[in-house]
Parts: sequence; C-alpha cells; structure tokens
Amino acid sequence: MQSTIKKKLLHALSESDQDFLSGQALAEIAGCSRTAIWKHIEELRKEGFVLEAVRKKGYRIIETPDSVTESKIRLGLQTKTLGRVIHYEESVQSTQRIAHVLAGDGAAEGTLVISDEQTAGRGRLMREWHSSKGTGIWMSLILKPLLPPQKAPQFTLITAVAVVQAIEEATDLHPQIKWPNDILIDGKKVTGILTELQAESDKINSIIIGIGMNVNHTKEHFPDELQTIATSLAIEQGDTLSRSEIVQKVLERIEALYSIYMKEGFTPIKLLWESYAISIGKKIRARTINGTIEGRALGITDEGVLKIEDTTGTVHQIYSADIEVNI
Ligand code: BTN
Repeated sequence: MQSTIKKKLLHALSESDQDFLSGQALAEIAGCSRTAIWKHIEELRKEGFVLEAVRKKGYRIIETPDSVTESKIRLGLQTKTLGRVIHYEESVQSTQRIAHVLAGDGAAEGTLVISDEQTAGRGRLMREWHSSKGTGIWMSLILKPLLPPQKAPQFTLITAVAVVQAIEEATDLHPQIKWPNDILIDGKKVTGILTELQAESDKINSIIIGIGMNVNHTKEHFPDELQTIATSLAIEQGDTLSRSEIVQKVLERIEALYSIYMKEGFTPIKLLWESYAISIGKKIRARTINGTIEGRALGITDEGVLKIEDTTGTVHQIYSADIEVNI
C-alpha cells in the first residue's frame, strides 16, 4: 500500500494540472520535508510517470504510464469506497488468492487487489485464465454486503453490467453479456468474472469479485486455442486504451450499481442486465453438471438464475452452466 505522502503528492500534482508546484508547496501539502518529496518524485518516475522539474518553479506531471499501479489508479479515481485501498503487485499467481487472504484478515470493503501479470490466473470451473503481462486488467475486489450468501450470484450480474457500461464509456464498442459471466464483443470473449465467497450459513463475510479484462492484447498475445474465441478491447477498437482509466470506470460503475442494489434491490439491475444480454429470446444449449438442456432463454429470475423453456414448455432454472447461444 502507498504512503500518505505519496497519495497527497499525486493528488496535488494532478489537481494543479499543467501548473508547476514548488517543492516547498508540495512539502507543506504533504506535511513532510522537501527531501521526502524528492524521494517520492523519484519513486513515481520509476513507476513510469514523466515529471518535469524546473528550478525555482517546481514540479508538474507531463505523462502518466499505462500501468495499473496504485498511483496510476488513484489519480482521478472518483469513488467513495471502492479502490480506496489498493494492493498492487507487478506479478502474482492470482489476485483472487491474495484477495482471499486479505479478506480473511479483515480487509476493508472496497479493497482492490490488482496485478500487471498473473502466472496462475483462475477462471470459472477451475479453468486456467490467461493473464499476460502488461496487456490486461487482472483484479479482485472485496465487498462486504450485509446479505445472506444466496445473494452472492447477483454480484456477478451487477459486475457484468458495470463492466459493459465502463467499456461503452471508454470506447465505441457495445459488448454483450452471456449468462452468467462472459462479456463478449462480436461473439468473442473480452472479459470474464469470477465471484467467490467467504461466508457463514446466514451471512456473507466477503465477496471476492475477480475480473479479467483483455485490454491491449494483439492477436499474438493469445495462445492458439484462444485466438478464435477471445478478443481484446484494442483489437476491436483498433487502438490501445488506458488500462487504469478502465479500472477507474469499472470501479465507479460497480459502486453506483452496488448502491442502487442495496437501496432498491435486484430489479433495476435485472432490467439493465437483460438489456445487455445476448441470449434472451434465443435458442440456447446449457451444459450443467446434471446434463444438457436445450430451449429458449426466457430471462433471469430475481435471484439471477437463468430460465430456459424447452420444447415441451417446461421451464428450467439454471444455476450454473456453460451456455451456447444460437444453436
Ligand atoms: C471466467 O470467465 O472463467 C472468469 C475469469 C476470471 C479471471 C479473473 S483475472 C483476476 C482474478 N484472478 C484470478 O485468478 N481470476 C480472476
């Protein structure tokens, strides 16, 4: 986690925009010595920030790196709770694992674990999640809603809506959601969501929402077996994007939807989710652990469960499955 001095320093420099701030002014704002300011400026440079220093004028930010470091995400983040504690590491096995440990140790609501690379990223159903260095967003968010554990799957759907909205805000793209957790663009997966739980029988202790977003990947970044089924925002948009800006937008959107959900329940989220869903009204195949069900996707229940009507008119409720659309 970042020192308070660095937080104050970055905040002041970003607020001052193109104006210089003197070492003395920064020292007063951050409540430290000018030597400490200089030390933190050097740390920011190592993180990839380009800071101009001019004698008798002071410092200003010229360029910020395309990194997902704590400094970069904090700069301009407009949330109240989410991402206010950030745990960044350059390379980890899985952000999900770290978030579980932090949650068990009593991490604050909104704590974000994020890394530039995962060496053992996990997907749903114990699948591997490809997480190459410097290309994507690999993050896990800890939430602590006062709710029973049955509500947890709804957080996958809240997150899916937030991710779609964030992508729409940051790009010209219009992603769609494939129940329960895939975000697709033109049928190819751009984001996956993995919601895990630490709970007692009647109450959630922590929800750990893992989000994996393919952002600046070129085709070559994907292993052969993913090349036809996965894509990235950069491939679709035809331009690279700022990963930290997308992280900020995702956090801001989750915070807004989470607040609506806690006040008004799932119905407004459900309506939004259905407006982005790829499968509603279509013929789909759901492979569950109890067998395969084919039929027309009717929508989701208030609990976020998928409803499929088969040819006999029977409506099945699907809690967990792999879905194929337009069969
Ligand atoms: C899926 O579609 O199967 C879910 C993929 C979730 C991947 C993310 S990346 C960040 C977090 N850490 C992990 O190990 N997994 C999740």
